[in-house]
Amino acid sequence: MDKIYLIYFSPTANTKKILSKIAEGTGIENIQEIDFTLPQNRDGSNLNIDKDALVIFGAPVYMGRLQSTAAAYLKQFKGNGQPAVCIVLYGNRAFEDALIELTDIVSENGFLPIAGAAFIGEHSFTDDKVKIAAGRPDSSDNEAAIELGEKIVAKINANDTTSAKVPGNRPYKNSKTMPKMTPVKKSTCTNCGICKANCPVGAIDDNSVGDKSKCIVCFACIKNCPYGAREMRNPLLLLARKSLVKNPRKEPELYI
Ligand SMILES: Cc1cc2nc3c(=O)[nH]c(=O)nc-3n(C[C@H](O)[C@H](O)[C@H](O)COP(=O)(O)O)c2cc1C
Repeated sequence: MDKIYLIYFSPTANTKKILSKIAEGTGIENIQEIDFTLPQNRDGSNLNIDKDALVIFGAPVYMGRLQSTAAAYLKQFKGNGQPAVCIVLYGNRAFEDALIELTDIVSENGFLPIAGAAFIGEHSFTDDKVKIAAGRPDSSDNEAAIELGEKIVAKINANDTTSAKVPGNRPYKNSKTMPKMTPVKKSTCTNCGICKANCPVGAIDDNSVGDKSKCIVCFACIKNCPYGAREMRNPLLLLARKSLVKNPRKEPELYI
């Protein structure tokens, strides 16, 4: 196996970081990244996967399920029995049915899901005052990702084609959506357009104003703003932050 694909949706970059550490652990140098976070990268032109490659799929957990924009595009990648690894990133609360959902998509689409894992990334709801899993993935998470990469290569070299058994329920828990909200723009906004360029669903106009009906509440605009000019002020979010910060530290779970 001399080529690896990293296929992911990652509005705040935690999924991207962990996938590259897993790739590092495999030692495979020919890496093709298919980052479909932005809408222009979901035009169907990047769906072809070489036959003899290892594929790592990654997406964030939203409300205990796969983020829905990610799930919809992931369903379009068709495989020919290539070994695949399913990775979900969550914000130290719980990943519930997200990993089994990703594994099901990948296997139904013709890949062989030989491994799966749930890693922890800084919760998107983190702000200056309330830190939830801040700084993660950290060095210990990265070591676990590298170790997973090594184990994947060992499993492939041993011609072991057993599918990974991952936790989760079928039917999956009902999809819940976030209450409709969009970040407010503060007086420090310069209309530089960085938030618009980084919005995964094209929900921001030329004046940096968000469209509530399109917003997926991913926080990409807030995290990417160099002027700290965007903020989510919904009272429900403030309550959620207070509760999420109480969760004890979770560790990566590897299934191989
Ligand atoms: C709308 C929304 C819902 C989320 N739901 C969960 C959840 O159910 N459990 C959890 O632990 N983290 C949850 N998170 C946190 C993300 O899974 C976490 O921040 C993840 O690292 C984001 O991945 P990314 O950096 O690749 O975008 C949620 C985040 C958002 C924005």
